[in-house]
Parts: sequence; structure tokens; C-alpha cells
Amino acid sequence: MTYEVFATPQDAAKQLAAEVAELIRSRAAAAQGAVLGLATGATPLPFYAELIRLHKEEGLSFANVTSFNLDEYSGLSNDHPESYWYFMHQNLFNHIDIAPENVNLPCGTCAPEEVDAQCQAYEDKIAACGGLDLQILGIGRTGHIGFNEPGSDDTTLTRLVHLDELTIKDAAPSFGGAAGVPKTAITMGVATIMAAKQVRLMAWSSSKASIVKKAIEGPVTIDVAASYLQNHSDAKYYLDAPAAAEL
Ligand code: F6R
Repeated sequence: MTYEVFATPQDAAKQLAAEVAELIRSRAAAAQGAVLGLATGATPLPFYAELIRLHKEEGLSFANVTSFNLDEYSGLSNDHPESYWYFMHQNLFNHIDIAPENVNLPCGTCAPEEVDAQCQAYEDKIAACGGLDLQILGIGRTGHIGFNEPGSDDTTLTRLVHLDELTIKDAAPSFGGAAGVPKTAITMGVATIMAAKQVRLMAWSSSKASIVKKAIEGPVTIDVAASYLQNHSDAKYYLDAPAAAEL
């Protein structure tokens, strides 16, 4: 596992987007697809903005891309402004030429008795596509990647999880207060993420500094899901200077 520190999130996002563009283009040149794992939240916004710019200004096509998002809140329909389906369409998919049938997110609204089968189907679909070539991540202040909160070990797969109090607190402003935040979500597991061929985690600002230090320099522990990335053969953190301040 490695990390690189950049002057600004935009600088980091630009470099990561160039790396992803190279993957997509080299696969296209070989008439192959690229399978991307994607994240939501504030962190990847400059990265998605740069991918959109590469599409609009430099002709980067996403026609050969299949995407799988990390997670989705329980109970939010696709048109709910805080759903991750909505977020991804607003901030990326509506602005690029990815085929709608190649876009995958966990289902947040399926009936409770169908959740396990839906989660297994999500895992099966990732496998049927040849696995994730590159997984994009942010990191929560609990150390979560996806919604793998403390207590998620490295055997976990896509499943229903309960959100940590701190995660609910961090999401509260978007939902008009903590009471409005869904208490559960469907997330890829740590094992799902670790199976990606490449993992790229972005983190910005001083609010992430202490968890970034724990994830990179602390022990590999069930208490910090991101710490498992220390065991990944091709994982890299893209940090701005404030997020890297405690390293
Ligand atoms: C998002 C996700 C989460 C976020 C994390 C950081 O799909 O799975 O792990 O990456 O909560 O969120 P932001 O970027 O809003 O600080």
C-alpha cells in the first residue's frame, strides 16, 4: 500500500482521473471492457468533475465501462435526492456516455426478505463481469470504506449493515438532522473491495487526518476497515496536505 500527497484535491483528482482514463482507453484499444467500483460522498466530486471534463473535452468514452457502486442507503428510492443512485446520476452518469444497463448500484428498496438474495446477486454480477478492475474509495471518520463500519472483518461481502453513530452524525446535515438519516444501508463488504485488482482511496481535509493515520500507520484491525488495505497488493491513497498532516 502506498500514498501520495498533493497540494489540492483537484491535483489529486486530476492524476487519478488520468490513471482511470488510461485503464479505460487501453481496454478499449484491446476491445475489452473496464469494470470500475465507484464511491459517493463529497470526496470523489473533483474526480468525477475531471472524468466529465475528459469525456467532454478530450473524447474519453465510457462505452466499454461497467460500474458497481459501493453502497446505497436503505429505503431511499432512486429519485430521492440523497440516494446514491441519484447522486451518481447527477454527478457523473448523466454527463458521460456510460450505457445505463452497465450501471449497477445495490438496491436500497428491495423487500427485507429479498435483501440476502439481492446482495448475493450483486456479488455474482461483479464476478460475472470478471471482478472489479479498479475500486474508488473515500474514507469515513469511523475508518469505514463503503459502509463497512468498525466490526466489519475482511471476510465480509455485500450485505445489509447498521450505520455507526458517527456516520449518522456526519450525514445528518444532508437529511435535515440525524433523525432523518437511514439507519441501515447495503454495502459491498471488505472482501468485495479487497478482491478489486486496484484500490484507490481519496481523502481530503484535516477532518480525515487522524483516521488516515490510523488506517495507514496503525495496526490492521477490525476496528478500522480501511486498515485492511495495508494487505492489498495494489492500493494507493491520494491525499491532500491537511489529510496527510498526521502521517
Ligand atoms: C460512499 C462511501 C463512504 C464514503 C465516506 C466518506 O459511497 O461508501 O465510505 O466514501 O463516508 O464520505 P465523504 O466523501 O462524504 O467524506
